[in-house]
Amino acid sequence: MSSLAGKAGIVSGAAQGLGVGFARGLAQEGADLVIFDIQPGVEQVAATLAEETGRKVIGMVADISRRADVERVVASALEQLGGIDVLVNNAGTWRDTPPDSPFEQAVADWDFIMDTNLKGLLMLSRACVPHMKGRDNANIINISTYYVLPAKSGGTNPPNTDLYNASKWALNGFTDAWAGHLAEDGIRVNALCMGATDSPMLRNLFEGGRLPPDLADVVMQPEQMAELMLDVIREGADGRTGENIGAWVGEPVELGPRKVPHERITGFNQRIELPR
Ligand SMILES: NC(=O)c1ccc[n+]([C@@H]2O[C@H](COP(=O)([O-])OP(=O)(O)OC[C@H]3O[C@@H](n4cnc5c(N)ncnc54)[C@H](O)[C@@H]3O)[C@@H](O)[C@H]2O)c1
Repeated sequence: MSSLAGKAGIVSGAAQGLGVGFARGLAQEGADLVIFDIQPGVEQVAATLAEETGRKVIGMVADISRRADVERVVASALEQLGGIDVLVNNAGTWRDTPPDSPFEQAVADWDFIMDTNLKGLLMLSRACVPHMKGRDNANIINISTYYVLPAKSGGTNPPNTDLYNASKWALNGFTDAWAGHLAEDGIRVNALCMGATDSPMLRNLFEGGRLPPDLADVVMQPEQMAELMLDVIREGADGRTGENIGAWVGEPVELGPRKVPHERITGFNQRIELPR
């Protein structure tokens, strides 16, 4: 039997890119889903996934930064799927935000990015948590990025993406605090922190949407991230929580051993000697 048979999930930002990969992975594993996006294409994605997998996949046009939309999505999951076992906080947005942009622009950019990447994630998670309590192996998966794992990443996004950067660093706070607080309710909270993964967001960084040949050779695929997410869920109710799970271009994408507490946020995967 598939490991998620009888389970229900929500995936945000699932009209394209990684979100489609997460939704497909969950449905293939047996879960019924509500997926949503600001782009109407999400409805066709849902129909395709339902046909491919034989699962119930409901596609909704909804904006995670709008409270009423979030409540509509959660109500739909409860009514049509009977509960929520998995929440994938995937929706994310990006724009160039030079630190020396005009003040008014900076404030508008803050609202645009943070309302989706953080406030939206907060609202959706808060709306789901009461319904995830006490379910067997409930999981929140936050979609972060590799550069919040400085011990190994050795780099970051360019400085003119300060707000996107800040939003992903801030996710650490949610993952860490919620993992601690929700453990007693049986809800695990982990983050996937991936490097370059093939998606419209990544391709839009390059002229004509074409990845440079050296990147095209090694870029990771949404299906690999979906498998990583499923491996987290497959660990079961006693599995890890509060971890930032890294995936680096050019390296095997695998879950690896559980981390001791102080390494969960920084993502150390090896001991490093600090200079005396
Ligand atoms: N692709 C990468 O290399 C990469 C690397 C690290 C992290 N990420 C993260 O992975 C997640 C998915 O990224 P992607 O590369 O697939 O991007 P993408 O832009 O291709 O897809 C993101 C989806 O989210 C949707 N979305 C945006 N704002 C929304 C809102 N307010 N409400 C609902 N949906 C909304 C978009 O319409 C889009 O369909 C993001 O959180 C991103 O920051 C991506």
